[in-house]
Amino acid sequence: MTTTALNLRDIHAFYGDSHILENVSFALGEGRLLGLLGRNGAGKSTCMNVVVGLLPARGGRVEVFGTDITRLPPEAIAARGIALVPQGRRIFKSLTVRENLIVAARPPGPGSRHAPWTTDTVFGMFPRLAERRHQYAAHLSGGEQQMLAIGRALMANPRVLLMDEPSEGLAPQIVADVMATIRKLKESGLSIVLVEQNPRLVLDIADDIAILNSGRVAVVSTPADIEREALDLTQHLGVY
Ligand SMILES: Nc1ncnc2c1ncn2[C@@H]1O[C@H](COP(=O)(O)OP(=O)(O)OP(=O)(O)O)[C@@H](O)[C@H]1O
Ligand SMILES: [Mg+2]
Repeated sequence: MTTTALNLRDIHAFYGDSHILENVSFALGEGRLLGLLGRNGAGKSTCMNVVVGLLPARGGRVEVFGTDITRLPPEAIAARGIALVPQGRRIFKSLTVRENLIVAARPPGPGSRHAPWTTDTVFGMFPRLAERRHQYAAHLSGGEQQMLAIGRALMANPRVLLMDEPSEGLAPQIVADVMATIRKLKESGLSIVLVEQNPRLVLDIADDIAILNSGRVAVVSTPADIEREALDLTQHLGVY
């Protein structure tokens, strides 16, 4: 049986009085990649914010490798091996590439099996960043900034990596590079949630798919089942 790396159970989340997530449940198996799909405003980033503790859930439970993390502060959740590559990258533009990586470093948490990430191993994965290690992050291209955002998350030595729309705003060739990186990370054994609006980017890399629609889970499936059953993605995702 596969170990469950991340489990959301009946999550309810609010911004003020607005009930944004209703009964959201999905699970990510260890070493698997879950594609979390949904159109603009469906609640994907809100889900990620709940998992990393930036928005405390008002109901339900989040478990990481079987441990309840629902009420933990973000720092303690990060220490359990969860890292988020946030939507819009959010790197420190006034720091250099290398400094962005160094400030994010944290020792591996319990149960980590991967050799700890260092600036050198991140630079090995992203040679473009190695060339620019002493440049300010503000001067990087969008693709390089995305690589830095991923590298920064890796410096925290996560067991579960959450990636919120890493392809957003990037040219197709750069998106292909980012997807190749994600594939390598999956092959290294990381458990990954890949948030996307575009199903084409995830259907050939994901093991499992969850689709959010208006803050509820509309579909939990696999890419194969979605294709076999010719599931009507346009119903939940708009036209692609
Ligand atoms: N800080 C906030 N305060 C109030 N409402 C918010 C806040 N952030 C998001 N929302 C609302 O919560 C809902 C879900 O937003 P969320 O950002 O989770 O969607 P999303 O699926 O990530 O969309 P996108 O693909 O555009 O990033 C939307 O209706 C949005 O307007
Ligand atoms: Mg979002």
